[in-house]
Amino acid sequence: MIKTSIFNGKGQYINGQWVKGQGTILESINPGYGTVFWQGTSATEQEVAEAYHAAQHALFPWSTLDFQSRANYTQKFAQLIEKKRHELANLIALETGKPLWEAHTEVNAVIGKINLSIQAYHERTEAKVTQTAEANACLRFKPHGVVVVLGAFNFPAHLSNGHIIPALLAGNTILYKPSEHTPAVAEFVMQCWHESGLPPGVINCLQGDVTCGKALLSQEIQGVYFTGSYATGLRIHQQFSNKPEVILALEMGGNNPLIIDEVIDLDAAVYNTLLSTLITAGQRCTCARRIIIPDSSQGDEFLNRFINLCSSIKIGPFDQVPEPFMGPVISHEQALKHIHSQQKIIDAGGSPLMSMKLLIDDTGLLSPGIIDMTHFVNPPDEEVFAPLVQIYRYSDFEQAITLANQTRYGLVAGLFSDNEQHYRQFYQHTRAGLINWNRPTTGAASSLPFGGVGLSGNHRPSAYFAADYCAYPVASMEQPLLRMPEKMLPGIHV
Ligand code: NAD
Ligand code: SIN
Repeated sequence: MIKTSIFNGKGQYINGQWVKGQGTILESINPGYGTVFWQGTSATEQEVAEAYHAAQHALFPWSTLDFQSRANYTQKFAQLIEKKRHELANLIALETGKPLWEAHTEVNAVIGKINLSIQAYHERTEAKVTQTAEANACLRFKPHGVVVVLGAFNFPAHLSNGHIIPALLAGNTILYKPSEHTPAVAEFVMQCWHESGLPPGVINCLQGDVTCGKALLSQEIQGVYFTGSYATGLRIHQQFSNKPEVILALEMGGNNPLIIDEVIDLDAAVYNTLLSTLITAGQRCTCARRIIIPDSSQGDEFLNRFINLCSSIKIGPFDQVPEPFMGPVISHEQALKHIHSQQKIIDAGGSPLMSMKLLIDDTGLLSPGIIDMTHFVNPPDEEVFAPLVQIYRYSDFEQAITLANQTRYGLVAGLFSDNEQHYRQFYQHTRAGLINWNRPTTGAASSLPFGGVGLSGNHRPSAYFAADYCAYPVASMEQPLLRMPEKMLPGIHV
């Protein structure tokens, strides 16, 4: 394993400086080995308040800076990430446990986000002037103000970056709280912002758990850009129920279906089902949780091959040689909770085809689990963020669509089928923010919107459409000189 001396955290990043925090100890643990490798502190309420004042103070100069200057800072940031890509990939892998090959794809996404967000800013929030007989009708966009970004652990660099870059380009200033599971990656990313020369106060990073998150949300902020679970998203929505003036962009979980239909290439179906279900140890919001398979000999063949493939994948710590396909879940505690969830499903009527098991004590390393849910009455509509796959068998395509729609979530839905008519039918009857045909449910395109309906989101998709929730449109009717109209309204004599 790569050297695991314990790094000392720099503290909170407030007003362009690292402030050694006064709060409680926060530790980061590599879940593949179960060892602490980073130790820092959580932000105190006072530190949160100081960060808020810094962000508020920085707002006017930042939001009135010309767009190109703001974009230049983000480009400088991208260059620094490029220069330190190996260091960042190693840290992502060390902190989340995901294999190095996958951590590198996350770094690519961070870098790619800059130019895509600049393009999206122009396309979705470009100023426009239309000349009318009376005046110029001008459309321009303004930033919301000081916004809070709350990050999830599964893509500690990429997902927060997906809110931060568009928010900065639009002219907002930021209070950022990464996941408590991934403080070290956040600190590394903040140091890159620091080195990019970003003016003090434009971005501030406060470490900690729910307590820190709540303290941030109690400031006089104008927006919350959140990625995380439905339960937390709902709490945040309730907390702001008496503040409709605060914009909330809530990117939440999914209970995503994937239908296997008529396909000639069964190997491709099996391989792409594996990518849909087990990549990142099932810790992607886009992972297919429910695989809907025909109750036929072809369906049996698919299921047998899928079970065989799942049993043969390499699972291990991020730096194992040769490289594993799948690492651990984020912590040993989470692994135990997932095993408990599996047991609850089995106790309530699911038939285990393969059991998800803890592979090494004190780690988050789990083997995949597969449960047949076909005869389960009223299966739970819950996201288990783990390498746990539920199987449903169907007798005709209409039934497959009905099963796919049995969820209140609506993030991703997928179909593997060589029948185009079936895809059209599936598309028409499916309610989800992402609908894929013969592609894994995972691996979203940054050039498209990314967000769900139902319990998966609040209709403010991220990725290419993040520009929309980072700025509001201002309509101005403008004429350079105030003058009388050619004709006054009746009843007025000037
Ligand atoms: P989580 O909801 O536990 O935490 C997300 C963030 O919110 C963390 O920073 C956490 O500290 C903070 N938080 C928790 N409670 C809070 C509160 N009351 N007030 C303020 N902040 C609070 O989510 P997680 O476990 O980090 O991530 C996994 C979840 O994220 C899964 O449900 C997954 O589907 C979802 N996710 C969604 C997307 C998407 O784009 N739709 C992407 C990735 C992950
Ligand atoms: C996620 O954000 O959890 C997954 C995104 C993806 O699969 O590309």
